[in-house]
Amino acid sequence: MTITQPDLSIFQTLESEVRSYCRGWPTVFDRARGSYMYDEDGHAFLDFFAGAGSLNYGHNNPVLKRALLDYLERDGVTHGLDMSTTAKRAFLETFQEVVLRPRGLDHKVMFPGPTGTNAVEAALKLARKVKGRESIVSFTNAFHGMSLGSLAVTGNAFKRAGAGVPLVHGTPMPFDNYLDGKVEDFLWFERLLQDSGSGLNRPAAVIVETVQGEGGVNVARAEWLRALADLCKRQDMLLIVDDIQMGCGRTGGFFSFEEAGITPDIITVSKSISGYGLPMALTLFRPELDVWEPGEHNGTFRGNNPAFVTAAAALDTYWADGQMEKQTLARGEQVEAALCAIAGEHRGGVAGFRGRGLVWGLAFPDAGRAGWVCSRAFELGLLVETSGPESEVVKLLPALTISPEELDEGLRTLARAVRETA
Ligand SMILES: Cc1ncc(COP(=O)(O)O)c(C=O)c1O
Repeated sequence: MTITQPDLSIFQTLESEVRSYCRGWPTVFDRARGSYMYDEDGHAFLDFFAGAGSLNYGHNNPVLKRALLDYLERDGVTHGLDMSTTAKRAFLETFQEVVLRPRGLDHKVMFPGPTGTNAVEAALKLARKVKGRESIVSFTNAFHGMSLGSLAVTGNAFKRAGAGVPLVHGTPMPFDNYLDGKVEDFLWFERLLQDSGSGLNRPAAVIVETVQGEGGVNVARAEWLRALADLCKRQDMLLIVDDIQMGCGRTGGFFSFEEAGITPDIITVSKSISGYGLPMALTLFRPELDVWEPGEHNGTFRGNNPAFVTAAAALDTYWADGQMEKQTLARGEQVEAALCAIAGEHRGGVAGFRGRGLVWGLAFPDAGRAGWVCSRAFELGLLVETSGPESEVVKLLPALTISPEELDEGLRTLARAVRETA
């Protein structure tokens, strides 16, 4: 595809230098539908990024769009703080019926603010309040958001440095396989907890991603997660699963921890919960942890009612039966087979691949190569991004609603981009 140089002048002169995705994809997007985005010159791009996991049901999903348009057309409440509204009631009822009850979860639902980092901040605050302790344990290569509390439990040195103040009360521990399986799981962590001379303040909670999306698509084994849940119980620490990127079906089940059979005390959900890319976040917690005073955690944009409407429609449409999970796992096998072929073709040039459901990473030994692959993929009409501490992993995050043919097209483009950057 030949892309004529677009007019980017207003972005380059007025928009802050902090902008990032637009640098890797230097065009001006205009429309989007399903798994495709179109720029203003009509070039089509197959989207293997899905709004960083916010568009699990594709762009402008027609079922969700209909529900949204009907709601707006009848002047349904748009902004509602935390007032009770018909849209919020419908969402809560659907969430309970379709998501919580079938999974045996009795968690309370909190609307902490519109973004993922709002959900994480609320989770950390609540854990500290419940336990009366300050310290939180996180994991190497974790990513939990860009506000100060979330940054304190995030690994990436570049992102942490942006805080400009000391990031305190967080202690990192090795994520699954960080030490290449050479050390027994949780040996170090448990030893510190048991030793009154270790210097580790007793943590209020542990926060974990079951698959580290930003950290390089690092997949925790189910048995590691079970052992972590067990450790938390024995050592009186709350278990927070940050399901902001891996929840809403990304790994197969609605929650990414279902496969491991664990029940976190606190769960954070955002990104694809609205289903339409509208800002919305949830912090879920066991009922006995609901020690908030009214208004103790607040925020103007906790009642994005159009998001409640599309969220309820998404749950009704995709999660009332088990089809979505089966389809995601089948599509995941298609991706795995393609990545296996790419790795086989480029022995030495590819460090490996890993994933679950429809999140996959293709790792390169030469960190720069992943970025070149993404740039070449863009020229060939495919949107993919890097992740990992050195941006050494190409991360595949297609919409869960992608067709096998579209998936195949994107995987062939990826294979070509890898070949052409060898
Ligand atoms: C696991 C996880 N937690 C938290 C966040 C932060 O979400 P937001 O960017 O909406 O604040 C992200 C964003 O990528 C994430 O992947």
